[in-house]
Amino acid sequence: MAGEESLSVPRQSSDRLSTQTAEEEDALLTGERTTRREPVRRGLGFWGQVGTFAWAISATIVVIILAVVYQHESAKNQRGEPPIGWGPGGKPSGKRNLIFMVSDGMGPTSLSMTRSFRQFVEGLPIDDVLVLDKHHIGQSRTRSSNSLVTDSAAGATAFSCGHKSYNGAISVLPDHSPCGTVLEAAKLAGYHTGLVVTTRITDATPACFASHANLRQYEDSIAEQEAGEHPLGRVVDLILGGGRCHFLPNSTDGSCRADDRDIVDVATQNGFHYLQDRAGFDALKGGADAKLPLMGLFAEKDIPYEIDRRSQNDVYPSLEEMARTALTTLSEATRDSEQGFFLMIEGSRIDHAGHGNDPAAQVHEVIAYDKAFAAVLEFLEKDDTPGILVGTSDHETGGLAAARQLHTTYPEYLWHPRVLANAQHSSEYAGAKWTEYLSQNGKHSDDKKKSFIRKILLEKDLGITDATDEEIDALLHLEAGVYPNYVFADMISRRAQIGWSTHGHSAADVNIYASSSKNAWPLVGNHENTDVGKFLAEYLDLDVNAVTKRLQSAASWTASSDESSPSKQHGWLGDPLGSNVRVEGLDGYHGDFRKRSVDDCACGSVH
Ligand SMILES: *[C@@H]1O[C@H](CO)[C@@H](O)[C@H](O)[C@H]1NC(C)=O
Ligand SMILES: [Zn+2]
Ligand SMILES: [Zn+2]
Repeated sequence: MAGEESLSVPRQSSDRLSTQTAEEEDALLTGERTTRREPVRRGLGFWGQVGTFAWAISATIVVIILAVVYQHESAKNQRGEPPIGWGPGGKPSGKRNLIFMVSDGMGPTSLSMTRSFRQFVEGLPIDDVLVLDKHHIGQSRTRSSNSLVTDSAAGATAFSCGHKSYNGAISVLPDHSPCGTVLEAAKLAGYHTGLVVTTRITDATPACFASHANLRQYEDSIAEQEAGEHPLGRVVDLILGGGRCHFLPNSTDGSCRADDRDIVDVATQNGFHYLQDRAGFDALKGGADAKLPLMGLFAEKDIPYEIDRRSQNDVYPSLEEMARTALTTLSEATRDSEQGFFLMIEGSRIDHAGHGNDPAAQVHEVIAYDKAFAAVLEFLEKDDTPGILVGTSDHETGGLAAARQLHTTYPEYLWHPRVLANAQHSSEYAGAKWTEYLSQNGKHSDDKKKSFIRKILLEKDLGITDATDEEIDALLHLEAGVYPNYVFADMISRRAQIGWSTHGHSAADVNIYASSSKNAWPLVGNHENTDVGKFLAEYLDLDVNAVTKRLQSAASWTASSDESSPSKQHGWLGDPLGSNVRVEGLDGYHGDFRKRSVDDCACGSVH
């Protein structure tokens, strides 16, 4: 109904536009053409009309043939069949480095939103774009083996193994057998390897490069494998990020392990130098004083969003700092070796801001990722060893739209970056602060609570000065199953006129970036996400299939000494959850639009 009403008032906002644009807008809304077709002229006579008609038909056929031929040719080129050899410069040989960057959950609209936000905040001209914008080379199609909407596990398995698998799979195939990863193959071929993230190092994306599990939730096992309890031995040389909690025994504060194993101890026994705070990170002197293998876990779970981290810079390093430190460390470590390094760097929490529908948090995450991307480019330019940077996203998150219709009346054409700039913190930060306040001041009067919401959370932290009584009430008396974060994020999104269609992922194609399209030419154009994974292995000339064979012959391998651990009962990949769980092919339609109880709700537990 809202749609019908908006269609009946199409000119609401067009008075500011030129007549021509208004006409086009009407055309879009009504489906009529703006360029009116010339009627066949009167007076041509019957044969004249037949002649014109015949001419028109043959011209149309010629145009169609040309278009088909051209399409075919350009599709062929996009699929990466160059006229000669491997591409400009030929197949790379000799010592080289590969940096792969993942912007988790960053779709094309995140770029548009962040670009405009940055221009607004810094007073930049329209052509002052992001570093990423200048290195865009293609697009990736993201579906998994069992859904058109992938999760990060299946998405990262496409990158690490070059194979489609099911949502939740950590570098295992739909038949629950492990697939060799580019990082493992690189390690076996003599490369140094690294993982840098802003979320848990046991989360799906990093997990897929250095471990294998039938489900992404088996993070205790993932931590063990990353620490070196892995059928191939220790495969990662450098780890920087969050997720300490899965490495600590359950008897320790800040642990999220189910058992009492000390995985920091396992890591140390496997040679890792372990650090867990800013002081330890600073002592690395940007990598100059770092020794491999190195494991730095700077948060129990996630490193805070950049919008919140910037005021705690003395506690947590930024993604850019971790990226620079990793590059220097790996570059120094491989100075005299025959092989270079493979490094994966993830802007992990762009995705989380999407799940939280928080546009203010997201623009800062994307800018932080853009800075890390620029730091890698700078490294590649200065470094003597040739190398390339390839970056992409595993999927889009949130169904983000840089527009939002707020009322039943036809919307205005705009969105407001000012609203995002006014926010000093994320909705996650405000939500946690509100929960904390309630736990300590639950007995305060409603008036006192309302004043805290209005003055501190909304005005000071989120920059919202025009909250309505209804909005404050919604926060004070939260509906069951609604997080305060979601309410805060929605208040910002509505004011900024930023739209979201889901708290989950979407099936949108995502962008591919590279340091140069010359070296990453096989990824120019529109590709399946598995092509990205295949390219990574090909660039380093790695035999990933040989690693798959070795892993598959380790079917009965086990490292854990604990008889009750899941790996004893189900093998090292953990419970595959039975044959009734769909791992291939798409589910049908079940009328889901009407059934929705809290019990059916996955409630954002899996990203
Ligand atoms: C901690 O782990 C041990 C097994 O390693 C288990 O027996 C115990 O119940 C766990 N404790 C908690 C509080 O989960
Ligand atoms: Zn993801
Ligand atoms: Zn996600």
